[in-house]
Amino acid sequence: MTQDTTRPNRSGKPRQNASGQPRGERGPKPAFRGGNAKPTTNHRRHRDEPEEKFIRRAIPDIDTPFTRMGIDARVAVNLPPMGIDAPSPIQEKAIPGIVEGRDLLGLAQTGTGKTAAFGLPMLTRLLNIGRKPEPRTCRALILAPTRELATQIAANIDAYAAGTAIRQFRVVGGASINTQTMRMERGVDVLIATPGRLIDLIERGAVDLSQTKYLVLDEADQMLDIGFIHALRRIAKMLPRERQTLLFSATMPKLMEELADSYLTDPLKVAVNPPGQAAAKIAQGVHFVNQGDKATLLAEYLAKHREELAIVFGRTKHGSEKLSKLLEKWGYKVAAIHGNKSQGQRERALSGFRAGETKVLVATDVAARGLDIPEVAHVYNYDLPNVPENYVHRIGRTARAGRDGRAIAFCAPAEIGELRAIEKAMKAPIPVVGGEVPFEAAKIRERGGPAGRGGPAGQQPARKRPARRPSRAPKSA
Ligand SMILES: Nc1ncnc2c1ncn2[C@@H]1O[C@H](COP(=O)(O)OP(=O)(O)OP(=O)(O)O)[C@@H](O)[C@H]1O
Ligand SMILES: [Mg+2]
Repeated sequence: MTQDTTRPNRSGKPRQNASGQPRGERGPKPAFRGGNAKPTTNHRRHRDEPEEKFIRRAIPDIDTPFTRMGIDARVAVNLPPMGIDAPSPIQEKAIPGIVEGRDLLGLAQTGTGKTAAFGLPMLTRLLNIGRKPEPRTCRALILAPTRELATQIAANIDAYAAGTAIRQFRVVGGASINTQTMRMERGVDVLIATPGRLIDLIERGAVDLSQTKYLVLDEADQMLDIGFIHALRRIAKMLPRERQTLLFSATMPKLMEELADSYLTDPLKVAVNPPGQAAAKIAQGVHFVNQGDKATLLAEYLAKHREELAIVFGRTKHGSEKLSKLLEKWGYKVAAIHGNKSQGQRERALSGFRAGETKVLVATDVAARGLDIPEVAHVYNYDLPNVPENYVHRIGRTARAGRDGRAIAFCAPAEIGELRAIEKAMKAPIPVVGGEVPFEAAKIRERGGPAGRGGPAGQQPARKRPARRPSRAPKSA
């Protein structure tokens, strides 16, 4: 469908860019993008397919911190307009090894640019190695745990690859499988998928992974957890042995790391700070409160910052739905996202929230990982997560890319066990910002544990921490 116009110039002669100017004299951006480069077709074949893009014929003659790390100039040129001028620490550590072709496990806090850390070097390799994909194949596969995250990664890959011949396609549940099957007929450079839908497509013979040379697991520890591991094993078996595998997350429990090793060959392991820590600029607090008083307390917090975006995490779909209805009744602009919503409702909830039309998003863990909405200023853990790592991911929806953010956890007497597990996983205490510290929590904090505000004993006995339950795949993801 697209001709290969992106080969590096090996003749030594100055290449001409799309506007007929010599290489390096790009002229203003619109001319560069629009120039003579015409798409080979000018109609869109399917609804899911992005607009045909103009292809950048010349390699921009630029020198940036990213090109110096080996990122192809055709990709690097897209970064400054996105506000990406210099590499973040994880990008600095991960990119050179990936450009070289190494397998890699990359761990860094939430909101620190892991998507670009795998996306930019992967695109660089795709641009310089290999050729057009065969029908039904993909050259690179990125797996993510939720539809929303897959969609976001696809948008990022599109932005990094703008102006190149690289094409991405996203396959997730809740969208037409026939449309996806038809699109895959032509093959694609980068396939971004949730595991369930990918398996469905493979079973229909619509996707063939035998030529996939790059595998990325975003949110790798969740992808290796019980909810996804069976699908993942099936998918891994279909991939060539000779491939580059990249695993990224903000958390990686020890057990998962051992499992991760079985997917990697002689990997580089790069970690920014001890893995599992919360992003540095999140002001965290825990407020002790009885379960029945949580809604009123939440309304008090929300009322103080009516114009700022906030995500409220509940544990169950039903509870989150009920809470969102209550907040709506109380006059808040609120939307809910969880597994009982249709795909259309999920997309509308998220796009209204991204646009700032709704200020409060009530969500289950389906929104805990990866979502990048820079304006989110507050995260409320209305219910504490029962998988401690998810706390780090939930609060990581705020304080993105060096911004500030606030995260308040509401802890009911029955949730002391969860609180303790979270603090243990992060190896750091969460400061108490309100309520009475229940007796059990005060005792824990006295015992060299996290320092609390030490209120008088609350009388409720603390529940024993439940055995660690593996995180579950969102049912409909
Ligand atoms: N080098 C950079 N300079 C400035 N901003 C950046 C840079 N790299 C990425 N960003 C921006 O930082 C934000 C967070 O990036 P990203 O979503 O990749 O984080 P993440 O590490 O994957 O977080 P999470 O663990 O929550 O998935 C994005 O808005 C992205 O555009
Ligand atoms: Mg991410």
